[in-house]
Parts: sequence; structure tokens; C-alpha cells
Amino acid sequence: VTIGIVGGTGDIGEGMALRLSPVFEVIVGSREIEKARFTCDSGRETLKKRGQMCSLTGVSNQQAIDDADIVILAIPFKHLAGTLETLEGFEEKIVISPVNPMEKRDFFTFVPPPEGSAALLIKKMLPPSARICTAFNTIAANRWKSLDEELSYSVPVCGDDNEAKQEVMGIINRISKLHAFDAGPLGGSSMVESLTPLLLNIARYNKMKDVGIQFR
Ligand SMILES: NC(=O)c1ccc[n+]([C@@H]2O[C@H](COP(=O)([O-])OP(=O)(O)OC[C@H]3O[C@@H](n4cnc5c(N)ncnc54)[C@H](OP(=O)(O)O)[C@@H]3O)[C@@H](O)[C@H]2O)c1
Repeated sequence: VTIGIVGGTGDIGEGMALRLSPVFEVIVGSREIEKARFTCDSGRETLKKRGQMCSLTGVSNQQAIDDADIVILAIPFKHLAGTLETLEGFEEKIVISPVNPMEKRDFFTFVPPPEGSAALLIKKMLPPSARICTAFNTIAANRWKSLDEELSYSVPVCGDDNEAKQEVMGIINRISKLHAFDAGPLGGSSMVESLTPLLLNIARYNKMKDVGIQFR
């Protein structure tokens, strides 16, 4: 499986690349190819020091889509629509959205678009054959990057295409101690996306860091 990360140079993209590239082929996309290459070079260096082999390639966002079976959209919500407008080739691809539309006001607040969630906005913008899943919304970038720590979190996954959802859940279950849970159709994504502002408020008001979730 080849996984392309659009915006893979960012906080969560970089962390995902570090955890995914020893297991899968990972292609890091960026608006600037040089930036993607730099992220890959430093990721390879980090993993090499740990004695881990990896497959990491830095390309443009468009190339990351073209060369991947599965595309992760690791872009801030406010730049999501603008970025999708510049990209194509999503037909038949599995597209994963970790995107959480939220704002820091007096406290962290879920601020979805009129479609109801980032995932449903993505569905509206991409071709109908794109198989969109919501996943990885509630794992903090710092945890992805702390390679000495196990990621023992639950990962709710929403999607309308069952085959795609099963594939995404299979990938999740191969990363560290992550445990994927079927959270129903894509229409339920707002509930998953709104967990993150909740977790950030819990962290803030209880003086905790990088709060995550476990279903049990
Ligand atoms: N950070 C977390 O802990 C975390 C946890 C769970 C979910 N998420 C979600 O994951 C997504 C990415 O979060 P992040 O913290 O990784 O974001 P980020 O680091 O702020 O940005 C990610 C990447 O987006 C690209 N980007 C920035 N501005 C852009 C623009 N104006 N137009 C197009 N692309 C732009 C950049 O890539 P290039 O400059 O290389 O193009 C950047 O590296 C968000 O939707 C967030 O809600 C984040």
C-alpha cells in the first residue's frame, strides 16, 4: 500500500510519516517540493538512528495523490477547500480526513462548515468515486512524533464505503498499539471531529497534555 500525505510537512503529517513509513510506502506532499524533501530527509535520519528502515519520498501535493492508493489530507481546516480546489485525480482513491474544524475562542469550540463536518465538505468537493473516511482526528501530533512511546489509542473511523473503511481500519491496526473502531457512516463524522476541541478543553482545564481516547 502506498500512502500519500497532502500537507505531509506539517505537524501531524510529519508525525504520521514517521510512524507509517517503516510499515507502508509513504509519499509526503507539499506545496513546495523542497520542503517535502526536507521533511523526508529528516524523517529518514531520525528512523535510521533508531535502526528502522523506511520508505519515504517527498513530492508535490498533486504527485502525492497521483502516486498513492490512499491519500491523507493533513491540512488545516481553514485551508482545506482552497487546497482541494487546486488538486485533482481523487477518483477511486481512498481519502482519509483527520481534519477538525475548530477554533480557540474563550475555550476550544467545534465550528463546522454548513455541510456539517469537514468530511462532508470534502465529499461535496471531490468526485463521487472518491472513498472518503474520517480517521486519526484525535491523536495529537506530539504523540505521533514521540517514537519511544506506544500509541495506545482508539481511532474512530467513519465512511460510507465499507471496503475502504475496512482497509483504513486494517492500516490503523498495524500502527503501534492503535485500535480502530467502526464509527458508522461518513454522516457521523461531525461527532468524531468534535471530540478534539473537547479533548483540548479537558487538557487545558485539567492541566494535562495531549489527551487522547480509548473505548473500552
Ligand atoms: N496537530 C495535531 O495535533 C492534530 C491532531 C489531529 C488532527 N489534526 C488535524 O490535521 C490537520 C493538519 O494539522 P497540522 O497541525 O498538521 O497543521 P499544520 O502543521 O498547521 O499544517 C499542515 C500543512 O498544511 C499546509 N498548509 C499550510 N497553510 C496552507 C495553505 N494556506 N494552503 C495550503 N496548504 C497549507 C502546509 O504544508 P506545505 O507548506 O508543505 O504545503 C503545512 O505543513 C488539521 O486539519 C488538524 O485539525 C491535527
